Amino acid sequence: MSDDAPFDASLVPPALLTIDLEAIAAEFGTPLFVYDEGELRRRAREYVEKFGVGCVTYASKAFLCIAIARLVHEEGLHLDCATGGELSVALRAGVPGDRIVLHGNNKSSEELAAAIESGIGRIALDSADELDRLDALMGDRAGRADRTEPLDVLVRVTPGVEAHTHEYIETGTEASKFGFTMTDGIALAALGRVHATPGLRLAGLHCHIGSQIYRLDAYARAIERLASLAADAKAVHGCTLDELNLGGGLGARYLSDDPELSVADYASTLNGAVERSWRSAGLGPSPRVVVEPGRSIVAPCAITVYRIGTVKEIPGVGTYAAVDGGMSDNPRPVLYGAGYEAYLPARIGDPRPRRGAVVGKHCEQGDVIVSDARFPAVVEVGDLLATPTTGAYGYSMASNYNKVPRPAVVFVRDGSPRLVVRRETTDDLVRLDVE
Ligand code: LLP
Repeated sequence: MSDDAPFDASLVPPALLTIDLEAIAAEFGTPLFVYDEGELRRRAREYVEKFGVGCVTYASKAFLCIAIARLVHEEGLHLDCATGGELSVALRAGVPGDRIVLHGNNKSSEELAAAIESGIGRIALDSADELDRLDALMGDRAGRADRTEPLDVLVRVTPGVEAHTHEYIETGTEASKFGFTMTDGIALAALGRVHATPGLRLAGLHCHIGSQIYRLDAYARAIERLASLAADAKAVHGCTLDELNLGGGLGARYLSDDPELSVADYASTLNGAVERSWRSAGLGPSPRVVVEPGRSIVAPCAITVYRIGTVKEIPGVGTYAAVDGGMSDNPRPVLYGAGYEAYLPARIGDPRPRRGAVVGKHCEQGDVIVSDARFPAVVEVGDLLATPTTGAYGYSMASNYNKVPRPAVVFVRDGSPRLVVRRETTDDLVRLDVE
C-alpha cells in the first residue's frame, strides 16, 4: 500500500458506506454510534449456524442495551451477564432468565438471589466463597414451597495457558483472578463440592482464556488441560461434564492489516480439539461446546461518527484533528494501546498524504483516538470523521469524564436509522446529585 493510499473501506459494513451520515448526524447529533442492524443479525446468525442452537451465548459486556439484548435473543442466542446490572437490563429487555448465564468473580448474595429468582440458565461459579453463598441461598429455598429445579452450575477454570493478547484481557493463566486454578487440585475439589451439593447440578466446565485473540492454538492447549481435568473429575468424583463453555475471545479486525477470522474455522478448531482431547483422555462422548462471543459479533458492526472542531498543524509533528468525543466514548486506545483507523466520509476515496492524530476534547494529552492517523489533503473544521470497528467495548465502557454526555446509539436497517439509546443531556449529568 502506498503511503498516501485511501482509507480501506472494507473495514466498514457496506450498509454504513451508503447511508447519508450528514443527515443522520443532523438528526441525532455527534458523537454517535451507528450500528448496521443487518450485519449484527448476520454475525449472530452465523455463530448459531456454526456452533449450533443453544450453543452461543452473547457476551453482553461488549455492548448492552435493550435493543441489542432483544436482537440477539430473537436470533436465538443466549446472554452472558457479568453483574446484577447486566442481568437486570437483559431481563428488562424480555430475555427469559433461563437463557442467561451469570458470570462474575465476586458475585454478591443479592446478585445470586436475583439470578435464582429469574430462573437463571447457568451460574458460572468463580470461587469457593461464592459456593458458600450459593449453598446458603439454596438452603434457604429448600424449605420453600416454590422450590424448583436444581440450579445449573458451570465451574470456571483457569487452564494455565497464555492467549497472546494484551495482559489486561488475558484470563486463562494461573495468575488470573478468575475461576479455579487447576494447580494443587483446586479446580478438581470445586467440581467435587458442586457435585455433592444438594440443589446444585454440575452442568459442566467454563473457561475463558482472554479477548481479542487472533491465534486459535491457545484454545486447543486449554481444551487439552480441561479434558484431563474432566478425566480426573470422572475418576475421583464420578461426575460427567456435559457442557464445555469455552468463553469468548475471537479477535476483530480493527486495522486494515488485521486478519478477518472465520467463525467456521473457529468452530471447527474448537470442536475438533474437544473431540480429540476427550478421546485421548479416554472420556466418553464429547461434551456440548458452547461459546460466548462478544467483540467478534458487535465490534465490526458499528462506526462512531464525530464532528471535527479544530484542526492544528504542528510543525514537525503533523495534523491534530480534534473531535467532539474522545476517551469518554472510546477508552480502548488509552487503556490497551488499541489501534483504530479513521476516515472522512465525505472524502473516503481520496489519497491521504497527511499524517497526524485524531484526538478528543478531554483534558489529557493521552486522550487520543487514533495515534497514527492519515488524512486527505483537505481536513476542515465541520467535517464528519468516523472510526470503524467501534461496536464492542466502546459504548459499554463509556464514561462522563469531564462531564461529557454519553453519545446516542442508532441502528440502521434497510437504510433507515432508529434511535435505540438516546444521547445524555446536561440534566442527566446531575441526575444523581443531591442538592
Ligand atoms: N466470556 C467471558 C467470561 C468474558 O469475560 C468475556 C470478556 C467474554 C466472554 C467475551 O469476550 P469477547 O468475545 O468479547 O472477546 N474491555 C476489553 C475486553 C474485556 C473482555 C472481558 N471479558 C477490551 O476493550 O478489549
